[in-house]
This record gives sequence, structure tokens and C-alpha cells, in this order.
Amino acid sequence: MKTIITYGTFDLFHVGHINLLKRLSELGDRLVVGCSTDSFNSLKGKTTVYPYEQRKALLEACRYVDNVFPEENWEQKRADITREKATLFVMGDDWAGKFDNLSDLVEVFYIPRTPDISSTEVKTYLKVRDEEKTVEIKNLLSRAIELLES
Ligand code: CTP
Repeated sequence: MKTIITYGTFDLFHVGHINLLKRLSELGDRLVVGCSTDSFNSLKGKTTVYPYEQRKALLEACRYVDNVFPEENWEQKRADITREKATLFVMGDDWAGKFDNLSDLVEVFYIPRTPDISSTEVKTYLKVRDEEKTVEIKNLLSRAIELLES
């Protein structure tokens, strides 16, 4: 039984996450995912739209994922790998080189990210849309006031 382990925040679950999880599940028999908790994210200076329980529920509903556990700090990975009997540790290549120190315990490698999508990008897109809508509403209100005054 070959177990693969990976970690991430997985906010606003998107196709980049699905592609990664699908590819990882094809590398072995069992895929386990450490999902960053809200308190670990705030330590990293990261805020999420969905709280941990919802991000975890989305991961658990994904057919490629066999088990989800909380990622609460940077130091837990060795204990997780041992507990889960993982033989392969894989992350997207935005993390390339960052976890090579685990290679005495597990095979470590990084796979290419899906281009042009990230949770941050979705949040930026929604923020821009929100700002555009605000400007549009302000313009409509100004026009209405002008009409009422004339
Ligand atoms: N990932 C990927 N392709 C993407 C986005 C993410 O392969 N387009 C991978 C990351 O490399 C990581 C995992 O998905 O191994 C979880 O990444 P996460 O940081 O939660 O997702 P992002 O969308 O990159 O979120 P953010 O923009 O907040 O960093």
C-alpha cells in the first residue's frame, strides 16, 4: 500500500486543487491531506473565505482524497508521515525545494501547478468585481440625484 501525503490551505476549492489531487492519487494507493487550520493560517498571515471545517469537508468530498487531518504547525510533518506510513511527499512546484529536508524519511517531489488559477486570484477577481459594482451603483445614484434636482 503506497501512501502519498500533501499539505495546503485549499480555500475556495478550484480546478488547480482538483488537478493536483487527481495527479497525486494516481501516484499510489492512498492520498492523505494535511489541511491548514485557521490558527495556522493566521500565523502564516493568510486569511481564508472558508473556515477550516468547510475546507476539510470539501477535501473529504473529493473522490481522490482518502483522509484529511489538521495542519497546525510547521513542525508536525515528520510525525504525520510516520503515523500515516507515507512513502511519497508531494507539493505543487511553488514549494520547490522547501521540504527537501524530509527526504531522509520519505521521497519528496514537486509537481507543476495548474497555470492561471489560485485562491488569491479568485479573491482578487471578486474584489475587483465588487469595486466595479460599487462605482456603477455610485454613478447610477449620482445620475438619479441629478435627475431629481433638475
Ligand atoms: N496548486 C496547484 N495549482 C494551482 C493552485 C494550487 O497545483 N493552480 C497546489 C499548490 O501548489 C499546493 C496545493 O495546490 O500544493 C494547495 O495550494 P493552496 O496554497 O491551498 O492553493 P492556492 O490556490 O495556490 O492558494 P493561494 O493563492 O492562497 O496560495
